[in-house]
Amino acid sequence: MDISTRLAPGLCLKNPVLSASGTFAYGEEFSRMFDLSLLGGVVTKGLSLLPSEGNPTPRVCETPCGMLNAIGLENIGIDAFIEEKLPFLGTFDTEVIVNFFGTAEDEYAQMAQRLDIEGVSAIEMNVSCPNIKKGGIEFGKDPQILNRLVAKVRKSTTKPLVVKLSPMVTHIGEMALAAQEGGADALTCSNTFPAMAIDENTLRPMLGNVTGGLSGPAIKPIALRIVWEVSRQVSIPVIASGGITSWKDAVHFLLAGASAVEIGSASLRDPLCFGAIIEGLIRYMQDKGLESISDIIGRLQTA
Ligand SMILES: Cc1cc2nc3c(=O)[nH]c(=O)nc-3n(C[C@H](O)[C@H](O)[C@H](O)COP(=O)(O)O)c2cc1C
Repeated sequence: MDISTRLAPGLCLKNPVLSASGTFAYGEEFSRMFDLSLLGGVVTKGLSLLPSEGNPTPRVCETPCGMLNAIGLENIGIDAFIEEKLPFLGTFDTEVIVNFFGTAEDEYAQMAQRLDIEGVSAIEMNVSCPNIKKGGIEFGKDPQILNRLVAKVRKSTTKPLVVKLSPMVTHIGEMALAAQEGGADALTCSNTFPAMAIDENTLRPMLGNVTGGLSGPAIKPIALRIVWEVSRQVSIPVIASGGITSWKDAVHFLLAGASAVEIGSASLRDPLCFGAIIEGLIRYMQDKGLESISDIIGRLQTA
């Protein structure tokens, strides 16, 4: 049985299960619980040129069927990552996909350039970030701005380039096409949804930042619709992210057109869920007599 999946020229995962950015840090904590070589790939916490401290606490809280986070993209910065974390990730037989962001086009390009090094299998750019030079509008909210940004980053790296789309747009297909035309090799659909929670006793918001991003099972049906819509628009592979908790969720996203899945919040609750999802997927394929993951990808019947 072949459970490998191809995301870009030169990027083939041995199985379609990845960690998601921000819920796996740089892999060290999880490596104490299971062998990271089990994964199709590791997606790192989002990195920036300089280290960032992130938002005031509390930065996470539980909600019905999900969680809110307002970490504020805290990270150790690109230099410390390359020196201290990348060599460790290189000791595992898995692909290393480095998530990154910037606050200006040049910063994104510089990040891509710095990450064009051995040990990095691909880069995933998070475009749900404010463009400081353009009054704070998110890069991922305007197709022209997104297209220009992706084209600039494309020129700055030889690595496979994954663009992680923002779900907070009216026409996600238009954004997906803008990223593809800019030179993206693959798309991740998608990021968290802006949301909030309130404590009725303290009369205060649950998060120090007041609002945060909603993730977990609560967003799965929305993410599934986004993956389906985007997969029909573009010719490049789509990676699903949003509420994937079980092998059944993974199969749903593959049927909707995803070539791989990222597991985020579910792994905070059960760090061993990755193995269970891979095993469940293999059992499903055996039960259905399927020989290759490509027999599932995009096989949803709508007629
Ligand atoms: C605590 C936390 C931190 C996150 N940090 C990042 C990040 O640095 N960069 C990014 O692109 N996405 C980040 N995300 C979004 C996740 O990668 C993922 O897209 C989202 O949580 C939806 O998937 P899930 O429902 O499986 O968690 C973060 C999510 C959480 C919960």
